[in-house]
Amino acid sequence: MIGVAGTAGAEVTVTLMPSESAPIIAKEMYGQFTEHLGNCIYGGIWVGEDSKIPNTNGYRNDVIEAIRELKVPVMRWPGGCFADEYHWMDGIGPRSERPRMVNTNWGGTVEDNSFGTHEFLNLCELVGVEPYISGNVGSGSVEEIQKWIEYMTATDGPMALLRKKNGREKPWKVKYFGVGNETWGCGGNMTAEYYSDIYRRYQTYCKNYSGNTLYKIASGGNASDYHWTDVCMKNAAKMMDGISFHYYYVDDWAAKGSATDFSDDNYYMTMGHVYDINAAIEGHSKVMDKYDPERRVGLMIDEWGTWWDVEPGTNPGHLFQQNTMRDALVAAVSLNIFHNHAARVKMANIAQFANVLQAMLLTKDEQMVKTPTFYVFKMYIPHMDARLVPLKVDCDVLEVHGRKAPVVSATASQKDGRTTISLANILLDKAQEITIDLGSIIPVKNGKPVAVGVQGEIISAKDIHDFNGFGEAEKVNIKPFKGADLKNKTVLKVKLPAASVVTLSIG
Ligand code: AHR
Repeated sequence: MIGVAGTAGAEVTVTLMPSESAPIIAKEMYGQFTEHLGNCIYGGIWVGEDSKIPNTNGYRNDVIEAIRELKVPVMRWPGGCFADEYHWMDGIGPRSERPRMVNTNWGGTVEDNSFGTHEFLNLCELVGVEPYISGNVGSGSVEEIQKWIEYMTATDGPMALLRKKNGREKPWKVKYFGVGNETWGCGGNMTAEYYSDIYRRYQTYCKNYSGNTLYKIASGGNASDYHWTDVCMKNAAKMMDGISFHYYYVDDWAAKGSATDFSDDNYYMTMGHVYDINAAIEGHSKVMDKYDPERRVGLMIDEWGTWWDVEPGTNPGHLFQQNTMRDALVAAVSLNIFHNHAARVKMANIAQFANVLQAMLLTKDEQMVKTPTFYVFKMYIPHMDARLVPLKVDCDVLEVHGRKAPVVSATASQKDGRTTISLANILLDKAQEITIDLGSIIPVKNGKPVAVGVQGEIISAKDIHDFNGFGEAEKVNIKPFKGADLKNKTVLKVKLPAASVVTLSIG
């Protein structure tokens, strides 16, 4: 099942090729997705002002701190599939008077609408996050969408007056607006041809009020549905700023497998799948290049990540899963791949922020844990808004169930005079000796390379199945890394432990 397809010999080399024309890695690639699903919003972010869980205006204090710690740039809300059943007017006004609804997609849970537009946008404002609103196209009207945008962003007009009556004088700033979600599926089961017309119609009424400028995002095709991208780009590229793309690392939807109890073979199969997202991004980008060679329209990976079986004993509709060192490696390799497409990929939102799928945070009443994936996002902060340094990795490539998985994945970027290199070793049982020639990134003075310092951090675990459990000491987090050795001022030798993610800061 697992073989080695190509070999670079004993030593792995990473060649850096800095270029002034390389793209900037949009910080929005580190975006989060927050849906009304299970305990992502309720319990995960919002507990209400009367909760015994320490909170600020109803938002958990520990979660507020975690959002700040990650410097979360953007949050997508209210779904997902939920967005296409969400009628925003149910979520405004006095909470005790808001109607209840059944969340048909996610476990039939009764939604009391206590977290609505004000609660979401006030949270974004409090923590300095850009909101990304997903509009209801599946079961909502054009009028509803138009009024929602006016309610959120206009200084005057009937909807602005209603907002003021509900206690918010100033409009909020809302940049990102999604015109439907998965309109090929839970968002209306449309065809690409039908949706592209619908998109043109709905987006006409997504207006810019009072100096607010919307960045309009069309609902894209699933995984590698390039036909969808082609039709939408052909018919509507000029009317959009971005088109979404969703990708979950699931091999068999009927048997997704346990988040914590998996074989080595399962693990390598997942890593092979992760590398496959590269081909899907390339496929969509190629189609987009046909209609938008200037790369004005962004490819927005606004849902991605692992999707395992729910934890035993939890509601199957709530998608609560644990998060192990395997998820950390999935996150690191995915982000490394996204960086390479920074010229086209302008946003990515991992699914989802708290308690759902590949979460950053898991909560249980007043307890909260930071997952291994959280720590990868934290370690990668220096890459946000940094200039990509294109690179080449020469290493062994595993052949896993017909997919190829290079054993070392790497990315590099430069910002504020420092170079950040992140490396992941996906092998479970073998460290990798890596040589990186820094000659191309180190400044030269009087014909000699300037002396630089190297600092490193590592995320690793004793066992790939390790996770951070409630009420236990953390098993996976960020530790200082001492395995990088700078020789002759320019050659970096790195000993990358098995199943680890390392970030080096050079400057
Ligand atoms: O993230 C869970 C669900 O996955 C979202 O609601 C939907 O858009 C996707 O199918």
